[in-house]
Amino acid sequence: MTDLFTLNGRNAIVTGGAQGIGEAIVLALRDAGARVFICDVNPDTGRAAAERHGVEFVAGDVTDPDSVEAAFEHVVDAGGSVDVAVNNAGIVHNHPSEELDPADWRRVMAVNLDGVFYCCRAAGKRMLAQGSGSIINTGSMSGHIANHPQPQSAYNTAKAGVIHLTKSLAGEWSGRGVRVNSISPGYVGTDMTKRGLSNEEWRRVWLDDTPMGRVAEPREIAPAVLFLASDASSYCTGTDLVVDGGYTVW
Ligand SMILES: NC(=O)c1ccc[n+]([C@@H]2O[C@H](COP(=O)([O-])OP(=O)(O)OC[C@H]3O[C@@H](n4cnc5c(N)ncnc54)[C@H](O)[C@@H]3O)[C@@H](O)[C@H]2O)c1
Repeated sequence: MTDLFTLNGRNAIVTGGAQGIGEAIVLALRDAGARVFICDVNPDTGRAAAERHGVEFVAGDVTDPDSVEAAFEHVVDAGGSVDVAVNNAGIVHNHPSEELDPADWRRVMAVNLDGVFYCCRAAGKRMLAQGSGSIINTGSMSGHIANHPQPQSAYNTAKAGVIHLTKSLAGEWSGRGVRVNSISPGYVGTDMTKRGLSNEEWRRVWLDDTPMGRVAEPREIAPAVLFLASDASSYCTGTDLVVDGGYTVW
């Protein structure tokens, strides 16, 4: 049974893999036997993480389709195939919607939704040519519910888009060997949530609204990705795996 979770001989790319949830995913895939490439817009943190964990780094900005193509091409050139693509890079912007600057709306969409599409496209065309592959997109519970008390309409909308993009691509590609799934984490202790967790009001609401009464560690999210990346999930496609400490039950 544990053989189902092995990634021996497979090449994996993780966007936003330099830190946080992405870094934990890098470790899980590496430990399962994959050759892992961290793809991040920040070369300093990306290279340092790659060095720390004995994996490889490739620079890439998910908002730029040419940069995304180059990063995926690098993986195929180096490893001969791209078997697992974890499209995880993301940003958040908290601002009341009635005053939201269109440039901030666009920036959030560019990274969180356009970026996921460009990465799926780059992964999909190569995996369809190989006849196999697993794509995992990082959605969020914010794609299912609207968070409070902090305003973040662009983020929530982009994440709902990621979940539906995932289903749309699963419908197109699963008959040709390429599975496409997403994960939807709840609150996780990373740089993204640092500001919110240090705000007494936000922290209280976040924890009160989570049945488990705490935020997750990044390493509690990564095994869900390993499941979706590996043959253990061979009949899953178009699935959104929610890992949220129960947040969405209330
Ligand atoms: N932290 C949470 O509570 C939480 C909850 C649900 C979903 N998520 C999602 O999980 C993913 C990872 O979040 P995190 O909390 O680890 O965030 P983080 O801020 O710790 O890490 C994000 C990483 O993405 C990289 N990145 C940002 N823009 C990029 C770009 N244009 N191209 C390539 N890389 C880029 C950053 O350099 C960074 O390494 C995001 O998609 C986020 O929306 C986070």
